[in-house]
Amino acid sequence: MNYMTGKEVAEAFLKFFEGKGHLIMPSFSLIPENDPTLLMIGAGMAPLKPFFTGKLKPPCPRVTTNQRCVRTGDIENVGRTARHHTAFMMLGNFSFGDYFKAEAIPWAWEFLTEVCGLPREKLWVSIYPNDDEAEQIWLKQPGLNPEHIVRLEDNFWEIGPGPCGPDSEIYIDLGEERGCGKETCSPGCDCDRFLEIWNLVFTQFDRTEDGEYKPLEHKNIDTGCGLERLASVLQQKNSNFETDLLFPIIEYVENISGLKFGDDAKRDISMKVIADHARSMAFMIMDKILPSNEGRGYVLRRILRRAIRHGRMLGIKGAFLEGAIGVVSKI
Ligand code: SER
Repeated sequence: MNYMTGKEVAEAFLKFFEGKGHLIMPSFSLIPENDPTLLMIGAGMAPLKPFFTGKLKPPCPRVTTNQRCVRTGDIENVGRTARHHTAFMMLGNFSFGDYFKAEAIPWAWEFLTEVCGLPREKLWVSIYPNDDEAEQIWLKQPGLNPEHIVRLEDNFWEIGPGPCGPDSEIYIDLGEERGCGKETCSPGCDCDRFLEIWNLVFTQFDRTEDGEYKPLEHKNIDTGCGLERLASVLQQKNSNFETDLLFPIIEYVENISGLKFGDDAKRDISMKVIADHARSMAFMIMDKILPSNEGRGYVLRRILRRAIRHGRMLGIKGAFLEGAIGVVSKI
């Protein structure tokens, strides 16, 4: 396995796909442009929706990004698992009517096994139940154990109305000791054993407001690889929070609280919540979202309040978040 800092992982990913003919585009703002269906950008593909539907012509049929995302659907899990966040960076490669499964699958495999050096025998993939085409392509990937291909009913990706399709997820088995111990534990289980690191979406439908799935004019690829998750694997850390992308924020909290991370499970949760929430606050404010009583501003306000509450639970008095934001900006 090749150790990489978070920054190096992102650079390696973007360079790899640039080498495969992709245009590297900077992260888009968290505020969706001309998209009333979304409150905030919560996936790498979200700002690219008009390119998938053909409404706008992309600057290149192949694009790669490292997109800042805010998604609050998992907010109650933040700090309680190794991998959930309200703010994260999503690496992705995208094809707008250009390449499809036959390229996207081997490239993902090549990046993970050759550039990152992940052990092939620990990788698992899931496919949509009727996606025999994806299975056939996966079976050709060197070193993938055919028994590590599973079919999952929920392998269909959509975010409100818009482009969507069946997907195929790549997991790494982090070992029994990280798992729930249940006999049924396998990719897709809620516990921390099988970590989903990459989702390859075969975007071929446009879901209408009425819930109808209309085939798109051309087939597309939308992939999302969680930077923090991949960094945790390559840095051999027990959670995303211990990577160089988040741990400096925890160290800041240790300093101002006088507490040590790892000493008490409940306090660890509070430290992790503050680290995560400091990132989402910084991401939102840099995109000019300000606390308010409605919409995006209310999301920010709620996150801010939660972070302060967890600070109080650690016994921190007075204002402390400004310092945490400073650490985020240095990272
Ligand atoms: N849209 C998919 C996701 O967010 C893949 O990019 O997981």
